[in-house]
Amino acid sequence: MTGSLDGKVSIVTGGASGIGRATALMFAREGAAVVVADIDATGAARTAEEIAAQGGRSIAVTADVSAEADCVTVVETAVSTFGGLHVLFNNAGIIRRADAIGTSVEEWDRVMAVNVRSVFLMCKHAVPAMTSGGSIVNTGSGWGLKGGGNAISYCASKAAVVNMTRALAIDHAAAGIRVNSVNPGDTDTPMLREEARQLAEDWSAFAADAADRPMGRSGTPDEIAKAVLFLAGDAASYVTGTALVVDGGGLA
Ligand code: NAI
Repeated sequence: MTGSLDGKVSIVTGGASGIGRATALMFAREGAAVVVADIDATGAARTAEEIAAQGGRSIAVTADVSAEADCVTVVETAVSTFGGLHVLFNNAGIIRRADAIGTSVEEWDRVMAVNVRSVFLMCKHAVPAMTSGGSIVNTGSGWGLKGGGNAISYCASKAAVVNMTRALAIDHAAAGIRVNSVNPGDTDTPMLREEARQLAEDWSAFAADAADRPMGRSGTPDEIAKAVLFLAGDAASYVTGTALVVDGGGLA
């Protein structure tokens, strides 16, 4: 069977959980070797084992993607283990549900480091390794394209990801590297439950609110992964610098 990522080597950050896990599994099913990078060592190893169980190639790397040395290790692992690098999915992220008054300086800095600095650092070290071209997908959010309540650091961080993506696309097009963002609406992952917890909201009420969009439901990790797969592969050969919204019509 042939897959759309046959022969490709990929990195998925935040691959232990949610959208990253679903995408890592999908990349592997489509033929890519996958470096699963996550600060959660147990979860990263579990995803790598799941990939091996479905017959794919994978290695788990424990990494804090806000730290430059860890980003270097992730890229070096891809090259030394699988012989190159073609696809980078910058997906690791955290959220702090609070307004300016309720957000500490430390929380602001951490959200910006994990959501924004990580994308800069991973690209800084991955682009030189993409010697035969490649595709980078960064996870933005609907809240990178519009504002949202009680999420000031998150909204700022995701808008930065969306525009950094455009800057990267311009800078590296000549090297055959496409760079796009995928912008999910509310997607049923552990992060969504974490948001309800931070806001002290009942989960069923929070989930119902998340479903309040034209399609009447929140998304699944697999539905976001399918959009990432499109951007990652040759089906998107003329797509760069774009912000693909996957949100059941929420932003519409
Ligand atoms: P998740 O919480 O299920 O997964 C996030 C993963 O990132 C976890 O495995 C976590 O350990 C990892 N991570 C956190 N900090 C890290 C660090 N410093 N270094 C390495 N790994 C780290 O969340 P989900 O929902 O799968 O989120 C994935 C991305 O999608 C995030 O960037 C998030 O902001 C974005 N997103 C999610 C939406 C949702 O409704 N779930 C909506 C829009 C965007």
